[in-house]
Amino acid sequence: MNQAKPSRPRGKFVTFEGIDGAGKSSHIAGAAALVRGRGLNVVSTREPGGTPLGEKLRALLLHEAMHLETEALLMFAARREHLERVIEPALERGDWVICDRFSDATYAYQSGGRGLDRGKFAQLERWVHGHLQPDLTLLFDLPSSIASRRIAAQARELDRFELERAEFHERVRLAYLDRAAAAPQRIRVIDADQAPEAITTLIQETLIRHCL
Ligand code: TYD
Repeated sequence: MNQAKPSRPRGKFVTFEGIDGAGKSSHIAGAAALVRGRGLNVVSTREPGGTPLGEKLRALLLHEAMHLETEALLMFAARREHLERVIEPALERGDWVICDRFSDATYAYQSGGRGLDRGKFAQLERWVHGHLQPDLTLLFDLPSSIASRRIAAQARELDRFELERAEFHERVRLAYLDRAAAAPQRIRVIDADQAPEAITTLIQETLIRHCL
């Protein structure tokens, strides 16, 4: 008799979010290492980007001036491609996906920051990713004044978002916190104004408690 190979359970989808300068990116590798240490495969990726086309869209989004709605639509266009080519296949295989930003960022930046109607995003979200939501979102929270100082201290060319004023980043921050209040089970707020070691410990505890 033909015995079907036992299929691996679907992987977990974990996203990292926060305003520019909150320091999330430097913790993603550590989170991926923790999961790999449990014998699981991890796909580490980012938005906008994560596919060849998505990375081209990212270069435009970060450096070309454009209409605010064009910006929002391109974020979702890059996401569609990312889901189709990277995120869904990985989750289906049983791999974990750790993604630097996802749709919460569109609500925070394009609605909170830019002021676009978030009702339109709910429609786009349903169109682009149906019922798929991250299993866990780690939201790095930091006052925008501290984040702006961290960005200013970096000796590199800044992108269109990093160049926005502190008020823009504060609106983004508040929109993120609103999302966290509306989905407290999924979105865990991490106080990013503490020593990196303390943040690493918090992330590990949260991942173990929620997903591992
Ligand atoms: P970021 O993760 O900050 O890249 P890096 O760590 O290399 O600076 O992401 C790039 C920017 O894209 C960031 O400023 C937020 C913005 N962004 C949006 O405005 N909307 C979105 O939906 C996404 C995914 C990102």
